[in-house]
Amino acid sequence: MPPVNKISSATVRDDFNDPIAVVHYARAAHSLGLWKSEKLLIERFFPDTNARLLEAGCGAGRVTLGLWELGYRQLTAFDFAEELVDQARALAEERSAPIPIHHADATQPIQSNLLGYFPSDAPSKNPGHPQVQSNPIGYFGFDGALFMFNGLMQIPGRANRRLALQNIAAVCRPDAPLLFTTHDRDHSRVERASWKLEALRWDQGKQDPRLVEFGDRYFEDDVGRTFMHLPDRAEILEDLAATGWTHGFDSMRRDLVRESRAVVDFSDECRFWVARRN
Ligand SMILES: C[S@@+](CC[C@H](N)C(=O)[O-])C[C@H]1O[C@@H](n2cnc3c(N)ncnc32)[C@H](O)[C@@H]1O
Repeated sequence: MPPVNKISSATVRDDFNDPIAVVHYARAAHSLGLWKSEKLLIERFFPDTNARLLEAGCGAGRVTLGLWELGYRQLTAFDFAEELVDQARALAEERSAPIPIHHADATQPIQSNLLGYFPSDAPSKNPGHPQVQSNPIGYFGFDGALFMFNGLMQIPGRANRRLALQNIAAVCRPDAPLLFTTHDRDHSRVERASWKLEALRWDQGKQDPRLVEFGDRYFEDDVGRTFMHLPDRAEILEDLAATGWTHGFDSMRRDLVRESRAVVDFSDECRFWVARRN
C-alpha cells in the first residue's frame, strides 16, 4: 500500500485556493455578509468602531467588509490562501475600503511588518500604513482580533492551533477580545453518538489515516474539500489558558439568534467564543 500523507497546512491551503472554494467564499463575501450572530457579538464585544482590529483567516473578505460596513475603519486582515486574499483585496477596492489585507499564516509569527505596523523608532518599510507606537514590552497592540467561521479549527494539529492563538495574543494589547467560532463535538445527541463511533475507530486504528488527531474530519462536498477539527468545550478552554487568553464568553449560535435560511445553508451550527488577552 502506498504511504498515506497526513493532512498538513499545505493541504488546507491548496483546498482553499481551489477555484470551487474560491467561488464559494467570494460569493458569500459579496452577497451574504455578516451573520446576525456575528453582528450581535461584534457590536457587544467591540463597541468602539475606532478600535484597531485584526482579522485572521479573512478568506474572501466576508467579515472584513462586514466590519467596514458597520463603521470600523482601523482594520487589518490576513489569510494564508493567496487566491482568497486576491478576492478580498478586489472586493475591498470595489467597495472603496482601503483595508490592508495581507498574505500570512497564523501559525508563523505574525510579523509586525507583514501587518503594516512598525515600532515607532523603526523606519517605515511600508509608507501609507499607520505607525503604531510599540509599548514598553515591545508588542503591537491591536485592540481586538477575530478568527471567524471556524478558521482556527482548520489548522491541522493542536500544537499549531495553539501557536496561532499565541501569535495573535502577541500582537494584541492586554484585555483585547478575541472572537472566534468552533464546532462542538457534544452539541447534540446525534453528534455525541457519531463521535462515540469515531472513538471506537481510533481505538481500533481504523480511522481515516490522513487525519492528524481525534476530532478531525476531512470531507468533500459541492464546495470542495474541507479539513475541520471539531473540539469539545474543555479542549478550547485548555488551549486558551495555555496561550495567553482568558475565557470570557461562549455560546452556541442557536442560543443567540435565529439565522436566515441563507446563513444556515452556508454554515452549520457553531459555538462562539470570546477570550481576553492576559
Ligand atoms: C471557513 S474559511 C472562512 C473565511 C472567512 N473568514 C469567512 O467567514 O467567510 C476559513 C479561512 O481560514 C483561513 N485559514 C486557515 N488556516 C489559516 C492559517 N494558518 N493562517 C491564515 N489563514 C488561515 C483559510 O484560508 C480560510 O480562508
